[in-house]
Amino acid sequence: MSDNQNQPRVYIFDTTLRDGEQSPGCSMTVPEKLRMAAKLVDLGVDIMEAGFPIASEGDFEAVQKVSEQFPMVRVAALSRATKGDVERAAAALDKAKAPRIHTFIATSDIHLEFKLKKSRQQVLEDAIRAVELARKYVDDVEFSAEDATRTDIEYLEQISQAVVAAGARTVNLPDTVGFSVPEDYSERIARIARLLGDSAIVSVHCHDDLGLAVANSLAAVKAGARQIECTMNGIGERAGNCSLEEVVMVMKTRQDYYPYQTQIVSKELYPASQMLSSIITFGPQPNKAIVGANAFAHEAGIHQDGYLKNKSTYEIIDPQSVGVPAGKLILGKHSGRHALKERVKELGFEELTKEQLDMVYKCFTNAADNKKGFTNEEITEFIETALEKTAEKVS
Ligand code: KIV
Ligand code: ZN
Repeated sequence: MSDNQNQPRVYIFDTTLRDGEQSPGCSMTVPEKLRMAAKLVDLGVDIMEAGFPIASEGDFEAVQKVSEQFPMVRVAALSRATKGDVERAAAALDKAKAPRIHTFIATSDIHLEFKLKKSRQQVLEDAIRAVELARKYVDDVEFSAEDATRTDIEYLEQISQAVVAAGARTVNLPDTVGFSVPEDYSERIARIARLLGDSAIVSVHCHDDLGLAVANSLAAVKAGARQIECTMNGIGERAGNCSLEEVVMVMKTRQDYYPYQTQIVSKELYPASQMLSSIITFGPQPNKAIVGANAFAHEAGIHQDGYLKNKSTYEIIDPQSVGVPAGKLILGKHSGRHALKERVKELGFEELTKEQLDMVYKCFTNAADNKKGFTNEEITEFIETALEKTAEKVS
């Protein structure tokens, strides 16, 4: 997406169809996953995680069909670090042109003690075995150290080095519970990136429990991570995952801070977001950055006046560059004369006199306090009233 081909490349690993899909209100049927997958291909994601094949027949079929129908994209299948899971993931990816097995195991003491009831040594051995087995089926294996941000850093270094020696090409360090903050996460990522050097790609996967998933992912990229795992509209477990549209647009808009390139076609962001909203049970909140209904809407009079003089006064992104039809001026109680005059013109009443326009503005402000906004029909009624009143005066 960047013009500068010399910039380091950041790979976008989309997990809308896996982490996103496993959250409340987001489950998708196989045909729905295929529809969404087509949009993700248009969007230019590098890797698409299509499901967790051991979890259900539907997930198995989704991975199988997505990888068969979209050979142009790398397709990942999730598996725990067990023989059965890895074999099931491999079977689902059997016909894939560019398959990736993504195997994971928790590494924090909290998870080891309460969930897995295993020692660090046992988990280390499970991880190595799973990666070695996965490599028998595919060349591209990713290992995730679940709950990496609450894992002892020396143990995290040990397991990261061991899985790379076993054949993993990507080491993902998830902030599984959204606990990390940018400074903490970037230190951790920098340590592992330094340790692994060119032997593997360091990946990040952030949850948004503290609202920091995008900030943490960007801090990690600055610290050496080269793969971001994210979802459209930020859907995912609990508060969701790092939002794809946000993280990509930060890198595009603030190249001065993030001089990296991705392959994302930004004008496909809004269509992809709309497609997802039509499939799952909810859309992004109206004030969601980039894809929310209000993301490019202006209501305050001072903002509308500035925007009408020059869009750059209040818009840092051209809405069309992310596929949003055009910036919107909302007529509500905070709007000023400038925006109203523009709307009156758009509605075809070009030659309203100053007196008539003042009348329309008066009707509008009188009614505005009790309204959330006005439709074009309501504005037209104000105009017609003003036209009738001035006609009466003349006759
Ligand atoms: O949040 C997480 O740790 C995950 C892993 C399975 C990558 O989703
Ligand atoms: Zn996750």
